[in-house]
Amino acid sequence: TSQRQYNFILVSRPEPSVVLVTLNRPKALNALSSPLFQELNQALEEADKDDTVGAMVLTGSEKAFAAGADIKEMKDKQCKFSNVFKNKFLENWGEIASLRKPVIAAVSGFALGGGCELALMCDIILASPTAKFGQPEINLGVIPGGGGSQRLAQVIGKSRTMEMVLTGRMVSAQEAANWGIVSRVVADGEGEVVKEAVAMAKDIASKSQIAVQAGKEVVNAAYELNLAEGLRLERRLFHGLFATNDQKEGMSAFSEKRKPNFTHT
Ligand code: CAA
Repeated sequence: TSQRQYNFILVSRPEPSVVLVTLNRPKALNALSSPLFQELNQALEEADKDDTVGAMVLTGSEKAFAAGADIKEMKDKQCKFSNVFKNKFLENWGEIASLRKPVIAAVSGFALGGGCELALMCDIILASPTAKFGQPEINLGVIPGGGGSQRLAQVIGKSRTMEMVLTGRMVSAQEAANWGIVSRVVADGEGEVVKEAVAMAKDIASKSQIAVQAGKEVVNAAYELNLAEGLRLERRLFHGLFATNDQKEGMSAFSEKRKPNFTHT
């Protein structure tokens, strides 16, 4: 997407329609410092605006997706409410959730604290068998601050969320799959989870982008609206898609037994 130089992330195009963002602070297990998060937001927002991109993949290293917010940065916050409040600490983390295009998290190794929360902000999570999810903030004398308590409760329910938030216990990839935190655990092997995520992103990017983005919008609405409002929004967006060329093309192609050629219009 960009020729921009980043210090804490790598941005690449494994497929013409897919942007891959790799968190790149290996020595700190990809701890999510403020400058790293700024770069991440910038790279994803640029990909979101780029018409040639259909979906994004976010990953870390084999050892760590991300081991949390940067504790060394936080410990210097001088125990001051006024400091973190005035600086809107972590407020820009929410920007990822407002992207239009799907973001797939490819998680290997530790996804802890803010790392777990970052994965939960993505639309789909694929896990390698080495993935470990946890909210260990309780061991640091704090609680999750990047949405973990709310997003986990929506996904895995109260008892499991309470266990994770109050004990800080790490959950294995298999357990995360059983609980519905991740959509699936991929086969063993270095790079496998990124390969699978890129293939999935490429597949999604081959669909009508308007339909994909509308699909993402209505699924997310299920977490914000009540059922009646959610159903109405879904129906209206569904109706709206009948005003697109991609709907005509998709249904004609099916009838003519050929592949659709979506123009995203
Ligand atoms: N912040 C800053 N640095 C971190 C870090 C973090 N979250 N996690 C790991 N690192 C650093 C370590 O300090 C260490 O640096 P040095 O080599 O300079 O000492 C380096 O990464 C490697 O880590 P370890 O030596 O600890 O590696 P390990 O394999 O022995 O242990 C681990 C791995 C269990 C993940 C351990 O690093 C760990 O417990 N990390 C902290 C996890 C955590 O508490 N995360 C929550 C952060 S709070 C948060 O995220 C708030 C929020 O909700 C937004």
